Amino acid sequence: MDNAIADMMRARAVLAPMAGVTDIPFRLMARRFGCAFASTEMIDVNGIVYGNRRTFELMERVPGDSPLGVQLVGQDADKLLYAAEICEQKGFKVIDVNAGCPARKVVRSGKGAALLKDPLKLAAIVRRLVKALTIPVTVKIRSGWDEENLNCMEVAKAVASEGASAVCIHARTKEQMHKGKVRHDITRAVKKTAGIPVFASGDILTAGDAADVLAKTGCDAVFIARGALGRPWLFREINAGALSTSVPSFRDIKDIIIEHFSLHLRFYDEQQSLKRMYKHLAWYLRRFKNLDAVMKEYRRVGGLESFRGFMERLRLDGRRLVV
Ligand SMILES: Cc1cc2nc3c(=O)[nH]c(=O)nc-3n(C[C@H](O)[C@H](O)[C@H](O)COP(=O)(O)O)c2cc1C
Repeated sequence: MDNAIADMMRARAVLAPMAGVTDIPFRLMARRFGCAFASTEMIDVNGIVYGNRRTFELMERVPGDSPLGVQLVGQDADKLLYAAEICEQKGFKVIDVNAGCPARKVVRSGKGAALLKDPLKLAAIVRRLVKALTIPVTVKIRSGWDEENLNCMEVAKAVASEGASAVCIHARTKEQMHKGKVRHDITRAVKKTAGIPVFASGDILTAGDAADVLAKTGCDAVFIARGALGRPWLFREINAGALSTSVPSFRDIKDIIIEHFSLHLRFYDEQQSLKRMYKHLAWYLRRFKNLDAVMKEYRRVGGLESFRGFMERLRLDGRRLVV
């Protein structure tokens, strides 16, 4: 078994790739709460091939953020290989091929979930990568293109036979996007037939969900995506298993927000940090009332000093946020 795959299995809960979310600050927050394996967001191989500055920023590595997998999105085997070799040199532990992204601009160019329509092409890509790389290659798939084409078992077997070290399945179709029910019965069927480690993704929002999905599907680990938004401590809860952990108080959450913002300042300038923090703040506070008014107030925050003032004023009156 590849070391990195064993690391993912030991981690039990892996931070899933999330475009626009799983940047270095977010990953470091998840790590702080016990996330033992994480992934970058999807990185377009064209950006790597053409030397795009922003793409290379997405591939930056920092101490304390390891082991880390990189997810590549592309459809041209040569470009994928070129990009994967650079990622391998940069110290990523896993190359994950995105065969699940349903976004129109991605599938239109034959990438992401479009690869599900051509399992032979996807398998050929995996063969190229596996042959040339020393780190494991994994593939993240969906259950199929639509209800009439639930071909994930065929896809999983095809990539396994070409040497993929694992698959992660988000058991919704491409057509479902993020809506409707995830089909973990399908996840279980893939686990039974793939012959390689299988990771489950989809609607794993609590420690209870993680335990349920692991038990019901027999999967080797779960991928945590939306469950970690504004709740990086979910990893601590999952790691604690049956033992209960303390839920962060409002005071704790404020400290966590400040810590997350400080991490932004390490990697982005002040204005970028404030902008990028916007969605995280909304996620951290979404379980409380009066969020709209608080976010309106946050939009008036123009710099570091006013952010400090905003956080000092932010308090809870019952379940209602006040700022
Ligand atoms: C904001 C956002 C961005 C995402 N970006 C990616 C991505 O870059 N690559 C990928 O394979 N999946 C991506 N996903 C899908 C997740 O990794 C995951 O498979 C999916 O959200 C289902 O899990 P969940 O119900 O726990 O959110 C994204 C999901 C969200 C919510």
